[in-house]
Amino acid sequence: MKKTPRFIFFSGKGGVGKTSMASSTAVYYAEKGLKTLIVTTDPAANLSDVFEQQIGHKVTAIEGVSNLLAMEIDSDEATAEYRERALAPIREAFGDEMVTIMEEQLNSPCTEEMASFDKFTDFMDTDEYDIVIFDTAPTGHTIRLLELPVDWSKHIEESSKGSGQTCMGPVQNIQDSKDKYDRAVKLLQDKEETHFIFVLQPEATPIKETIRSAKELGEIGINTTEVIVNGILPEEELLNPFFKKRGEMQKRYLQQINTEIPLPKRKMQLLAEEIRGVEILEKVADQLYNQQEAVNQIEISN
Ligand SMILES: Nc1ncnc2c1ncn2[C@@H]1O[C@H](COP(=O)(O)OP(=O)(O)OP(=O)(O)O)[C@@H](O)[C@H]1O
Ligand SMILES: [Mg+2]
Repeated sequence: MKKTPRFIFFSGKGGVGKTSMASSTAVYYAEKGLKTLIVTTDPAANLSDVFEQQIGHKVTAIEGVSNLLAMEIDSDEATAEYRERALAPIREAFGDEMVTIMEEQLNSPCTEEMASFDKFTDFMDTDEYDIVIFDTAPTGHTIRLLELPVDWSKHIEESSKGSGQTCMGPVQNIQDSKDKYDRAVKLLQDKEETHFIFVLQPEATPIKETIRSAKELGEIGINTTEVIVNGILPEEELLNPFFKKRGEMQKRYLQQINTEIPLPKRKMQLLAEEIRGVEILEKVADQLYNQQEAVNQIEISN
């Protein structure tokens, strides 16, 4: 059996089922006995809806699933915490006047992005969980977030030479951050430790977006591990002309996925209900991981 990764990222176009697949995967690993954290970096987080309980910007135990915790990163709160962390040593050493100056320097547009990234590298920098699952914002945003550390390494070097005016905070924090980001980037690029899963539907735009995003990730040294093709109509439902036509369309796109996406694939059927609550998440997890292995070519019936 393959080694279980320590981090799994779910990515994909808006609305394809990232949160649903990430949440089901989290339930799957938690029920296997691994201490599992699911964290969402999506500003429009809805883990609370999926798990039917209040979550928010703190690590929260999920009722009804042992070993499962969840957190919705709130960008404003993450930014406030990040500023405070950057400013505390300044306040201690130089007093409030210097803090005011630094606060202005931290008023840079990159601070917010930096704060989100900082928060999620925290989760890559702890042994507290056996596995951390990241439910990310639609692809464009995630890729930018992941490209940041590459830019930031440059940024850190420049700012430690120059005035120190950066969204990183005071120069003395920079080396610590650099070490943490370097560790995170290394883990992101480690195929065994970190898996990247793209969710898509058998339709034109999500296919295009998956191919493009996987290529972009590849350019920053990150390999896509597999794809989940979600929303497949069950064969036995393709009886009336409407569903028959839609089913045929999906089969054409599945064919395209087979030829154009050379990665291991899993299938997930369209369910009659929306994906909310532990019972349905377990059902999805079962279909995703117990009823199939990832395959290079999805079998398509005529
Ligand atoms: N296989 C499925 N069967 C039935 N409903 C599904 C399936 N997959 C997803 N859904 C439903 O589709 C909607 C969108 O799914 P989800 O929120 O997981 O997508 P997302 O990619 O996270 O969206 P966003 O980009 O907005 O974060 C939800 O209401 C979810 O319950
Ligand atoms: Mg989502």
